Amino acid sequence: MQKVLVTGATGGIGTRLRKLLRGVYPDIRWSDLAPPADLAPGETFVRADLAALSEVERAVDGVQGIVHLGGFSVEGPWETILNANIIGCYNLFEAARRGGVERIVFASSNHAVGFYPRQRRIGVEAPVRPDSRYGVSKAFGEALAALYAFKHGLRVTCLRIGNVADTPVDKRRLAIWLLPEDLVQLIRIGLEHPDIRCEIFYGASDNARGWWDNAAAFRFGYRPQGRAEDHAAAALAAEARLPADPVGDWYQGGPFCSDEFDGGIERAPT
Ligand SMILES: NC(=O)c1ccc[n+]([C@@H]2O[C@H](COP(=O)([O-])OP(=O)(O)OC[C@H]3O[C@@H](n4cnc5c(N)ncnc54)[C@H](O)[C@@H]3O)[C@@H](O)[C@H]2O)c1
Repeated sequence: MQKVLVTGATGGIGTRLRKLLRGVYPDIRWSDLAPPADLAPGETFVRADLAALSEVERAVDGVQGIVHLGGFSVEGPWETILNANIIGCYNLFEAARRGGVERIVFASSNHAVGFYPRQRRIGVEAPVRPDSRYGVSKAFGEALAALYAFKHGLRVTCLRIGNVADTPVDKRRLAIWLLPEDLVQLIRIGLEHPDIRCEIFYGASDNARGWWDNAAAFRFGYRPQGRAEDHAAAALAAEARLPADPVGDWYQGGPFCSDEFDGGIERAPT
């Protein structure tokens, strides 16, 4: 893997990856709506609005692999989600097919399955249960990934990312935390492992309180280094200061579930 495009370069994860992927691939092209303020000499940036196919085609031209982080990363109005995440994701996969790109790693989200209760342990075979329009857009991206893998032969990896941060900051994050270096491991499996065809992995570190069976990632050699339990005392102390959220606390997706939820906790399954 020589030439790699990373979309969403200016965002939180993109900013971390610009440091963590330095030296990993010889030729990395970074893309977003606007360049990062701290773009260094030698870093290559291409401006592209994901909602414009011609701009995306220019951004993907000549690369072998794509890490697709770009898009609207929380719940938002339908028009926003539609343009950045639905049309944007379609444009990304379609431009990749036209350009002969070999591999895509797609930043999906735990919010594609947010409406599973925390007492359920789920694997990647569980049907999607999006908790938001944003979660629906991630399920759509996973579906596109399967279409382009099985119909066109792209090698695709969807990462249902929990929460990327230096440490888990509350109880929910103790279950879904992803150390940035562990994300790099997962990205590298997606871009480099010879047996990748069409995979879904959970983007989670070694979280003792986790809800996800990540056996698929482990089969590909994933060995997370982050141990959420090392941060449990601080996270639980922070949790105690949060307001009560009965619906959000019941479901894996947390506040994305309680947001706009009709009714109360009595509607939640037991
Ligand atoms: N941060 C997390 O813990 C987390 C968890 C689950 C999933 N994800 C996913 O990972 C990806 C990166 O997350 P992040 O936290 O860095 O998000 P972010 O919001 O910080 O960055 C997203 C970037 O995408 C760009 N973008 C938005 N619309 C665009 C468009 N139309 N065209 C081109 N670029 C556009 C934005 O300018 C932004 O720089 C997102 O797809 C997000 O949904 C992140």
